[in-house]
Amino acid sequence: MGVMLYYYTTVYDSIVKGMASGACIKLPCGNFYFILKGLRNCRRNFSWQPYAHMSVALYRKYRPRRFSDIIGQEATTLILKNAAATGRIAHAYLFCGSRGTGKTTAARILAKAVNCLTRLGDVRLFEPETLRAERSEVFDPKVSDRRDSVLRDESFAGVGEPCNDCLACVQIDEGRTLDVVEIDAASNRGIDEIRNLKEAAVVMPSFLGRKVFIVDEAHALTKDAANALLKLLEEPPLHAMFILATTEPDKLPLTVVSRTQRFDFKRLRSSHIVEKLKKIAAAEAISITDEALRLVSLAAEGSLRDAESFLEQVASFGYALIDGAAIEEALGRVNIAKLKALVDAVLKKDAKGIMAHLRRLDEETSNIAALHKDLMRYVRRLLAIAISPEAAAVYGQSFSDDELRWFREQAEGADIRFLTKLLKALLDAQPHIHFSSFPIVPLEVALIETITQSDSSL
Ligand SMILES: Nc1ncnc2c1ncn2[C@@H]1O[C@H](COP(=O)(O)OP(=O)(O)OP(=O)(O)O)[C@@H](O)[C@H]1O
Ligand SMILES: [Mg+2]
Ligand SMILES: [Zn+2]
Repeated sequence: MGVMLYYYTTVYDSIVKGMASGACIKLPCGNFYFILKGLRNCRRNFSWQPYAHMSVALYRKYRPRRFSDIIGQEATTLILKNAAATGRIAHAYLFCGSRGTGKTTAARILAKAVNCLTRLGDVRLFEPETLRAERSEVFDPKVSDRRDSVLRDESFAGVGEPCNDCLACVQIDEGRTLDVVEIDAASNRGIDEIRNLKEAAVVMPSFLGRKVFIVDEAHALTKDAANALLKLLEEPPLHAMFILATTEPDKLPLTVVSRTQRFDFKRLRSSHIVEKLKKIAAAEAISITDEALRLVSLAAEGSLRDAESFLEQVASFGYALIDGAAIEEALGRVNIAKLKALVDAVLKKDAKGIMAHLRRLDEETSNIAALHKDLMRYVRRLLAIAISPEAAAVYGQSFSDDELRWFREQAEGADIRFLTKLLKALLDAQPHIHFSSFPIVPLEVALIETITQSDSSL
């Protein structure tokens, strides 16, 4: 055992030393460094944290704590804030939207807003009579007095935001209260878990004003569990509220959806993502160029959590300045200039040029699936601009002026029919690229086929 331990420690040490000195360890199947990079690419949210000062993941450290800090979901946060300010909180909410767009964050803020002691005056003011009666029966008068004597801070009156400072807010933030329960429905999807939830829901809150149940990944509940939840949503105890969060609302029974107030969280614009990443980079003293930020934001595909994880991942590589090339290397993403050169060759129907570009890209990037996605997005934008040049304005915030000029120039000379064909070929190639052990080949075939076929048919 001792020997084995020694063996592992030595191997581990040599790997770490090898990496620290910049050396790459050669394995029969390739380069160790790239295997690590590949591993990192397989799990989007996986982040490698060699530095002690980054022990809390950036996306957790910079989780918004007030509705006004949530970006890109203005309509939703405004309604929730107004509901909290006027005490018109529903008993069940459904937050839908793609990953990393602020659903869990908003649920926690709402839980704080309804329980915040600084806002107690607001909340009490609008509390239903029945709930007040129920409360005064249960509470020890001394406790009730203490609650009522909490001074109402006028600066929070009618704002609908939590103060983040009182005991209730702090406890919810730190996950130390039994009255705010987060359930991951993906791993607690059965009827028994919902029964437990029912039992917990009927019990009065222990300290906070309202018990809040946040059911994450609600679509993963089994049919029976969803039906059991239905009963609970139909006649919830007055002191309880439910917030269901899901990335796939279509999988939820309509009967559940119709008993909730539904809010759709939108994928974030890359300009919004860049804005937040800039602030994080400044606070964490990470030097990063605007081009690199743009590449990160595009790679995140509208998810702020992904963007923040990417930033952390790249920062952990220890670059003095993170530029476009660093992002290409770290995330296996290709910059717009290289995509443009490839698309130029395709538009010119230059088979030799296409093969040369693809060979170079294959050498440079370990992530052909991402290259394919980026290329598809590029062609889609080109098509949109070719159809209506005003579409360029929509993309204005995601690209630099130079890049927009390239798009316009390419779109001007391009044939809409050809672009559509190209996009379809790329779409058809997607499953082959994802499951092939030579992902570059289906991409080559798609591009070459498009230019040769369109030559004969046009
Ligand atoms: N709209 C937003 N504004 C600001 N930060 C955001 C926003 N959306 C996500 N984030 C960042 O991403 C992190 C994760 O967000 P959150 O947990 O709310 O996502 P989610 O929508 O619940 O995602 P999932 O569906 O994967 O559970 C937050 O901690 C925050 O740092
Ligand atoms: Mg979530
Ligand atoms: Zn508070």
